[in-house]
Amino acid sequence: MRHRRFIAGCLAAAVLALAGGSAAAQDTIKIGVVIPMTGTSGAVGREIAGATKLYMAQHSDTVAGKKIELIIRDDASVPDNAKRIAQEMIVNDKVSFLGAGLTPSAMAMAPVATEGKVPTVVMVSGTSVVTERSPYYVRTSFTLGQQSGIIADWAIKNGSKKAVSILSDWAPGAEAGKVFEASFTKGGGQVLDTLKVPLANPDFSPFLQRAHDLQPDTLFVFVPAGQAGTFARQFAERGLDKSGIKLVGPGDITDDDDLPTTGDSLLGVVTAGIYSAAHPSQLNKDYAAAYQKATGHRANFISVGGYDGMNLIYEALKRTGGNTDADTVIGAMKGMQWESPRGTISIDPRTRDIVQNVYIRKVQNVGGEPWAIESETFPAVKDPLKEAAAN
Ligand code: PHB
Repeated sequence: MRHRRFIAGCLAAAVLALAGGSAAAQDTIKIGVVIPMTGTSGAVGREIAGATKLYMAQHSDTVAGKKIELIIRDDASVPDNAKRIAQEMIVNDKVSFLGAGLTPSAMAMAPVATEGKVPTVVMVSGTSVVTERSPYYVRTSFTLGQQSGIIADWAIKNGSKKAVSILSDWAPGAEAGKVFEASFTKGGGQVLDTLKVPLANPDFSPFLQRAHDLQPDTLFVFVPAGQAGTFARQFAERGLDKSGIKLVGPGDITDDDDLPTTGDSLLGVVTAGIYSAAHPSQLNKDYAAAYQKATGHRANFISVGGYDGMNLIYEALKRTGGNTDADTVIGAMKGMQWESPRGTISIDPRTRDIVQNVYIRKVQNVGGEPWAIESETFPAVKDPLKEAAAN
């Protein structure tokens, strides 16, 4: 009897010790971000790392009485890596939040986030379906659909009739092309051909030549972050900047990270985008200056996904009083609205997707460098593919 009581006592002590251990661990909240820091999309990782660290430097590493620890790991754009790293972060590092990057990696991580019940901020992916892959996914980046329908309407309004699409050959490219074509043809235009360029180490020249030969009045192009500089160079080498063919696209093709190196080749190009480093709010002027100082680069549309992702986590923790329970956190995130360097943004409570302004911007030389200068604002744009599916 006494022996049994002794064992029971030992067990109780062990349970208490365990509980005490996890309570102590709870004083630190870990955020594990899985992004490409190397390879073709290495720029994306550099931008997200720069912006998330900047947010913490500006807003302290303590929120709701908890210390925040940011862990950033490189998946080299390989989805299997992303999945394994996310698992390791949950099991070994005991992260309370995950940050997801490119579409294929975000897709691969989704079951892990769901099973582990870890709220995950999608900081980069621009493909509509990603947020539907886990009830714990919330997006602070953008969708290609948000921008591609608006630029199609702009092109039609400005006289475009015959377009050729050049698309990076993966999910966001397919989505950009699909939404552009739907709006462009609805407006009476015709897409003569859709040309798909390999994602890795792209050579745009043969595709630009083929597009030129088809004699369109408009070229709709999507290349992902990190490729706008190469694209601009090959576009100019083929003489397309002087061909009279109008180049349009989502904001990705006039990426602020690349614009300073593109000389005159993209001047006059009009895009529908979610962020320009030249956005004229005071908040953005401060953000762009701080980002430039901290990283040595111009702030771009990828960086704000990381910066706002951190804000979403910080503000959710304030609302939950530091509680990291996944359902409680997601509940706090739904419907949240705040001022971002890109303008007012919010989280659609129905879809957990981002609602944000989309701007018409034209590349212009200001102070000796090309910038995407905004001229028109489409406020509070939702992901059109989710809206279409719901109606
Ligand atoms: C994506 O992962 O979906 C993605 C990445 C970079 C872009 C656009 C989309 O510029």
